[in-house]
Amino acid sequence: MGIAIASGSLAAEDVDVSKLPAAASSEVDFVKEIKPLFEKSCFGCHGAKPRAKSKYFMNKRETTLKGGSSKEAAIIAGKSAASPLVHFIGDLVEELEMPPIDKREKYPQLTKAQIGLVRAWIDQGAKWPSGVELAMPQ
Ligand code: HEC
Repeated sequence: MGIAIASGSLAAEDVDVSKLPAAASSEVDFVKEIKPLFEKSCFGCHGAKPRAKSKYFMNKRETTLKGGSSKEAAIIAGKSAASPLVHFIGDLVEELEMPPIDKREKYPQLTKAQIGLVRAWIDQGAKWPSGVELAMPQ
């Protein structure tokens, strides 16, 4: 894998996607494998509340793909390496590491294996069963 230039992404600088963990090779189940990660590590800041950080609402598929105040798509279905959300969770973009580095005691960083799952889920079309919405973890 070479160095891809993600032009037009949120990143002001070029993003070296060769540093990303590889996508998992398994078929990913959104409800079982991705939803709990997003709820635990993201939803506290990107929930359905009007004050969601960056006006980025991760409760529904549509808004999770669409992105927030940057007006850039956060997820490009089928293309994990080109998806800004993946660059952020992979710590490839300075100042936009997600969850933010200083908040990781409360919102755990995704492991490499988990990032691989998120990548596979996006590569497989970011399938999200209709009617499913994220919620605060219990
Ligand atoms: C502690 C709060 C917090 C948590 C937890 C958090 N974020 Fe963020 N997120 C922010 C803030 C603040 C911004 C705006 C940063 C900026 O624009 O400088 C942001 C911006 C974003 C954006 C850009 C949206 C846009 O279009 O402007 C994406 C995508 C994103 N976060 C994804 C995630 C993901 C995925 C997770 C979980 C793995 C996550 N974030 C966890 C605070 C958080």
